[in-house]
Formats: sequence, structure tokens, C-alpha cells
Amino acid sequence: MIEVENLVKEYGEFRAIDNINFTVGKGEILGFLGPNGAGKTTVMRILTCFFPPTSGKAIVAGFNCFEDSLNVRKRIGYLPQKVPLYEDMKVHDYLRFVAAVKGTPAKEVNRKTAKVMDDCGLSDVSHKLISTISGGYKQRVGIAQALVNDPEVLILDEPTVGLDPKQIKEIRSLIKELAGRHTVILSTHILPEVSILCGRVIIINKGKLVAVDKPENLASENTKKMFLRISGNAQMIERELAATGGISSFEKEQVAGDACGFVVVFDDEKRGRQGIQSMIEKNNWDLLEMRPLETSLEDIFIKLVTKEEA
Ligand SMILES: Nc1ncnc2c1ncn2[C@@H]1O[C@H](COP(=O)(O)OP(=O)(O)OP(=O)(O)O)[C@@H](O)[C@H]1O
Ligand SMILES: [Mg+2]
Repeated sequence: MIEVENLVKEYGEFRAIDNINFTVGKGEILGFLGPNGAGKTTVMRILTCFFPPTSGKAIVAGFNCFEDSLNVRKRIGYLPQKVPLYEDMKVHDYLRFVAAVKGTPAKEVNRKTAKVMDDCGLSDVSHKLISTISGGYKQRVGIAQALVNDPEVLILDEPTVGLDPKQIKEIRSLIKELAGRHTVILSTHILPEVSILCGRVIIINKGKLVAVDKPENLASENTKKMFLRISGNAQMIERELAATGGISSFEKEQVAGDACGFVVVFDDEKRGRQGIQSMIEKNNWDLLEMRPLETSLEDIFIKLVTKEEA
């Protein structure tokens, strides 16, 4: 549904997007992750025909974003990071207007507008001027205008920013329901959101693609952390851990009772485990607990992004 090939975007001398390639299948929800300034919004702006790339190709719903932009724009809904709204319109008038502009047949405009207002929790403010509603409600209007024509492809730049927890949950389940029928790209800084919503995730850093995978694969590939609870002298345990091969770092964790807790990170898991076993036997300590810890998406994100910087 979306194909991006050797995409480059330069702002003057500055290369904001550096040779990015990816595809998104029909019905997929793809998450964009990356630190501030990574280039997420820039890629989205190219895909939504806001501006052309410097070089490379972007195809959305079978049409080239540069050569055939009207056909692309007919098929997408876009929530920009900063939502531009007509503040002097009332919410329902604005949404009806957007539906009509997007080519919704006149007899369907009212039904589609009512549905999207219901889905986005806007019914209470439908007769208010947009200038008088709160920031979170403006964000909801932004999401509603992206959805109103039931587009094939949705591009959502940080869709849940500024929403209250209840609305975040509702908008997330709304986005989740769209999967299958619609193709969605969303950017976010909320990493659990990616695990909840996205079938696949792309991590961008400084304009370059640093990872593409399912969130669970990214996490499991990096599962090399272990929690240990040992009954023994804390200082001695620390000394032994520092001298054990296969362990790249460890941290003391607060645990209840007399025992000592540690989170251990391996660079060679087998060797590290064997080292821990023999240090326990040698010192006659009690190993009370040893369990793998799942590396969070946060850890992986930081690792990938800082590795690039190093
Ligand atoms: N119109 C512009 N002119 C010049 N530079 C720009 C322009 N828009 C973006 N940039 C630069 O391009 C880079 C990528 O910006 P972009 O907005 O795509 O990042 P982002 O990943 O969306 O970041 P954020 O998480 O902060 O929204 C940044 O260094 C930014 O300063
Ligand atoms: Mg952005």
C-alpha cells in the first residue's frame, strides 16, 4: 500500500532524510519511532504530498506522491503534528466541510460526520466554536477530520499527544479497529503505544533508518537481562559479579528482606550464567531467584539510537 524507495529530503544544505526505504502492507499499522528531529514528520509530509522529496520515490495506494499527488491525497487522511483548524467554525460545521471537500457524497456527509464525532468523543462540543474548545478536544477534531472520509491510508503524526488518559485509550482502540481495512502510519514518543498498536515499527535516527521489525522481535532479540536475588554479603556479591565473564553490567536493586537483588546485563549469556552458578557455589550463597527480564522497547530504542551516535 505504501512504498518508499531511496527517499532523501534536504532542507538547503541539511539532509533531514537520508536514503530511507520501507514498505507498508495493506491493513498494517506501522509505528514511527525516533528522537526529536529524527525526520518522522518530514517522511510523513512527503507521503501526504505536502512537499516533494529531494530524490527517491514514494508510492501511496498505487500512486506516486510527486507525479500523481491529487490521487494520493484523495485516498489519505492526515493528522499533522500541529493541527491546523478553522478556529472560527463550529466543530460539526468544520467536519461537514472537510467531509464535503474530501468528496464525500452530499447524502452521506451528515452520517459520516455524526459517526466520526461519536468515535472521537466530540458529541458534547459539536456546536462549539473550535477556538473555544480545549487543546485535547482540538486534537480530537484533528483526528476526526483525518478519519471523516474513511480513507484507505491514515497518516497520524503523534495522534495521542495532549489527550487525557481515557481518551487516549479510546483513540488507541479506534486506531486498532482501523487495522485490516485501513493502512495506518503513526508516529509517537510513547513506546508502549507502539507495542499496543503497531504490527511493525520503524526506528529513525538523524534521517536514517536504524531498525524495522515487529515490536516483540525487537524486544526478544535483546533479552539478555536477568534478575538475581541472592542471600549473601552484598559487597562480596558485587565484587564477584564485576569479575565474572559474560556480564557487561549490573545494578543493585532494592528487595525486601535480607537478600540482595541485582539486575545483570549479559554480553555472553551462557558464560555469564555459568559464572554466576560457580560464584554461588564457591561462596556457599543461596540463589533465591534468577529470572530473565524482558528488555523494554525503551531500552532497545536508547541502545539503537545511542549506538548510532557513538
Ligand atoms: N522546513 C524546514 N526547514 C529546515 N529544516 C527543517 C524543516 N523542517 C524540519 N527541519 C529539520 O529536519 C529535521 C527533521 O525534522 P522532523 O520535523 O521531520 O523531525 P521529527 O522526527 O518529526 O521530530 P519530532 O519528534 O520533534 O517531531 C530536524 O533537524 C528539523 O530541524
Ligand atoms: Mg515530528
